[in-house]
Amino acid sequence: MALLEIQNVTRRFGSMTAVDGVSLSIEAGEFFTLLGPSGCGKTTLLRMIAGFDAPDGGRIVLDGKDLTGVPPERRNVRTVFQSYALFPHMTVAANVAFPLKMANTPAAELDAKVRESLKNVQLDTLATRFPHELSGGQKQRVAIARALVTHPALMLLDEPLAALDAKLREQMQIELINLQKEVGITFVYVTHDQGEALALSHRIAVMNQGRIEQLDEPSRIYSYPKNRFVADFIGQCNILEATVRKRDGEVAELDLPGVGPARALIDAALASGARGALALRPEKVTINPSGQPKTDGDNHLSGTVTDFLYLGDVTIYRVALASGQKIEAMRANAEAGRARFFEVGDAVDVAWQVGAGHFLVD
Ligand SMILES: Nc1ncnc2c1ncn2[C@@H]1O[C@H](COP(=O)(O)OP(=O)(O)O)[C@@H](O)[C@H]1O
Ligand SMILES: [Mg+2]
Repeated sequence: MALLEIQNVTRRFGSMTAVDGVSLSIEAGEFFTLLGPSGCGKTTLLRMIAGFDAPDGGRIVLDGKDLTGVPPERRNVRTVFQSYALFPHMTVAANVAFPLKMANTPAAELDAKVRESLKNVQLDTLATRFPHELSGGQKQRVAIARALVTHPALMLLDEPLAALDAKLREQMQIELINLQKEVGITFVYVTHDQGEALALSHRIAVMNQGRIEQLDEPSRIYSYPKNRFVADFIGQCNILEATVRKRDGEVAELDLPGVGPARALIDAALASGARGALALRPEKVTINPSGQPKTDGDNHLSGTVTDFLYLGDVTIYRVALASGQKIEAMRANAEAGRARFFEVGDAVDVAWQVGAGHFLVD
């Protein structure tokens, strides 16, 4: 049996449905992430798991027990917020000890538990400091230690790293992965940052307008997005309208309006005439000066560079085809000091292999 079962949970605010019939189950020991754009219902769902809010419909079951009507403090669940929510007048140690005191933990056990929890987040040397004497990253570590100290069955983290700068965020991501592995507590993590979700999670539920669009492992979410929303939300993606013209085994000939014919692998169940889109990641599209021998892929097109985006390690080029339709291609800037291979206006060939794209059925 799963540790946490969310069964057809709905929450409405007036005429707005913030969470719309969500069902999912989370196994003990999982690092599970709710990912989606701002306003899609992530926090609302998390608050119902914590018990700060109640569903209008459906049930939440933890460890086989229906949580309906169970107040937050009686749930074996702790929450970490983006805003840290530390007690400003208490030391680090007192903040971490607080939930133990609330649970009437014997004084003899208290110190050792606080120390262990602070050690888990590498803060054992700062136990006597106050929150205002800590950096943002350190404050968030205290909040995590305070959540860990009672060894809850479930830890809920709502965009805990969103207030930190990029470098620190990356460091904390690595620490969170290690921490979760070490303590073995099940994490339900909320973020709108797709890179963070891919890096941290065992499984991801991609949410949109209160519903789950796809629930899968990170590599499957990235490589096999289920629909246009997921393809577009996760990473950069070319989404090209497509119709299946004919098929030959697993290879199909597609008609891409404004692009031309292209060959792609498609699902066995799809017949001629099926409509949808070809999702094609820019890193799967090669770009070369026009007129070079065509050896690098199975679908070839000619076009002109209209824009590019230098990202340091790679550059993304936007290429306009004769029809005006645009395709993005990525190229690694392998040579130091080289910001780009092509200029706006350059004539180029783009290519991708038959297996590079992924057909999204409408
Ligand atoms: N207490 C509330 N009253 C009215 N509307 C709310 C309330 N809480 C959330 N909402 C609305 O529900 C939707 C989902 O919000 P939220 O769960 O906070 O999204 P997310 O965390 O994914 O950004 C939003 O449209 C938000 O404005
Ligand atoms: Mg939120």
